[in-house]
Amino acid sequence: MKIDILTIFPEMFTNVFNESIIKRAKEKDLIEINIHDFRQFSKDPHNKVDYPPFGGGDGMVLMPQPIFDCVLSLKTYESYVILLTPDGETYNQKKAYQLSEKKHLILICGHYEGFDERIRTLADMELSIGDYILTGGEYAAMIITDSITRLLPGVIKSSSHENDSFNNNLLDYPNYTKPRVYKGMEVPEVLLSGNHQKIQEYRKEESIKRTKLRRPDLLER
Ligand code: ADE
Repeated sequence: MKIDILTIFPEMFTNVFNESIIKRAKEKDLIEINIHDFRQFSKDPHNKVDYPPFGGGDGMVLMPQPIFDCVLSLKTYESYVILLTPDGETYNQKKAYQLSEKKHLILICGHYEGFDERIRTLADMELSIGDYILTGGEYAAMIITDSITRLLPGVIKSSSHENDSFNNNLLDYPNYTKPRVYKGMEVPEVLLSGNHQKIQEYRKEESIKRTKLRRPDLLER
C-alpha cells in the first residue's frame, strides 16, 4: 500500500509517521507514505496557493491549480483520491477496512477557510473524521493513515484487530493484566480459570453490556 499526502504543512507529519507501529510498518516495506508540499506546484509568481474568495467574504480559498497539478503528477489507474473536509462522509472502522484494500491512496488536506469547489472533482471520496472543524485536513490524514496502516497484513497480528471495538458493531470487552489485585480491585475470576470457552462467553457478554450502556446506536445498526 502506498499513501501520498498533499499538504502545505509537510513538517506536521515528520514525527507522527516515524514512531511506533507505523515506523515499523515502513521499515518492513508494508506501507510507503510520502508527504508532498503542493506549494511546490504553484505557478503563481509569488508561489501562492490561496486567494480571497470571488464574491467577497472572510479568509482565503485554496486555488485549484497547485492541487490539480500535484494530484495528476501522482495519479495512476490504481489510485483512489480522498479529499479531507468536514462536509465529507463520516469516517469509521468499516471505511478503514475498505480503504485498507486499496493499492494507492492520495489524501488531499484542505486548509484555511476552504478550497475552490472545483477541487472536489478530483476526489473519489470526501471524508470527515467527525462533526467538528479542524484548522486543516492534516490531522484527519494522520488519523486515517494510522487506522488503515494497522489493518494491513503483517503490521500487527490480525487477531489483535479482529477483536477491536466497532468490529461487528460492538465495543471491546474489558482487559486486565498483572497484578490480580490492585488497590483492592480484583481481576474477574473467570479470566483466571483457564476455561477458554467460558472466557469467550464472558467477553462476548461484557462487549454487549458495554455497547448497550455506552453506544446503543451501534446495536441498532
Ligand atoms: N478539515 C477540517 N475539519 C475536518 C474534519 N472534521 N474532517 C476532515 N477534514 C477536516
